[in-house]
Amino acid sequence: MSQAPEDANLKKIWRYYDRGESRIGYRFILGGTKHFGYYEPGQSRWALRTSMRQMEDRLASELALPRGAKVLDAGCGIGNVARALAARHGLDVTGVDILDFNIAEANRLSAKAGLARTTHFQVGDYHHLPFDDDSFDGLYTMETFVHSANPKAALAEFGRVLKPGGKLVMFEYSRTPDEQVSAEANAAMRRVCDEAAMPAWLELYHGVLDEVLADSGFAIESSVDITANMMPMASAFYVIGKFPFWVGRVTGLEYKVVNAMSARMMFRYKEAWRYGIHTAVNKV
Ligand SMILES: C[S@@+](CC[C@H](N)C(=O)[O-])C[C@H]1O[C@@H](n2cnc3c(N)ncnc32)[C@H](O)[C@@H]1O
Repeated sequence: MSQAPEDANLKKIWRYYDRGESRIGYRFILGGTKHFGYYEPGQSRWALRTSMRQMEDRLASELALPRGAKVLDAGCGIGNVARALAARHGLDVTGVDILDFNIAEANRLSAKAGLARTTHFQVGDYHHLPFDDDSFDGLYTMETFVHSANPKAALAEFGRVLKPGGKLVMFEYSRTPDEQVSAEANAAMRRVCDEAAMPAWLELYHGVLDEVLADSGFAIESSVDITANMMPMASAFYVIGKFPFWVGRVTGLEYKVVNAMSARMMFRYKEAWRYGIHTAVNKV
């Protein structure tokens, strides 16, 4: 039986992903994967699954690790990214997620896909990783760090479990400074971050993650803004979210359609955020 965590922030994250709208939406629209797609110029916004595979291939090229390298997926969801890296790029991936129902599904899908030897999953909080020092050649986050209640503590853990010189790649959002956007855009950001349990996004203004990475002993290799490449999916979500968000508003049940609300707000106030790839190397 599912067991919600004690920690208040983790409990809020749990409630967000455990809700019917999240489970059904991610399952039927994205096949259970929970990250944006990478679109080449001119690609249709409805190429949802193709673009997600392209994002995963982009992750593999940023990691740039040899086949057989040991990699940690912090916040792995149901393991679709880990399986893509194992099946298409030969990596040996361990995933942790705080949601035990995600981990059960990740293990089931890996067994079904014949990937149980190269993908491994266990329940875990990336602020307190259940691994020895210097365990991994690489570590990545795919759209999870915004949920962190303590980014510095999480990065210290990443540095601890990564080998000296190990590769860290983070696909994450950042925020535009308050004074550069409207009061409505700031209010929308606060609402999305509160209802979808993403406290770190409020603090991670553009450039801040790289500063915290440097302060945590990582050497930044590159920091690339790929907002334009994922915006087609944000625009598709804006369309998909219109009807459920409208129903939520007219029935007074808006609190039940957090993903639809987020989709509408993120695209409407797209000047309030960016999406980037941060690549760094652990201290030697
Ligand atoms: C947007 S989903 C991304 C899932 C996966 N990376 C993907 O791309 O499909 C964010 C995931 O991070 C997990 N998560 C959030 N905070 C976490 C933490 N402190 N430790 C481990 N997992 C966490 C959530 O449970 C959720 O499954």
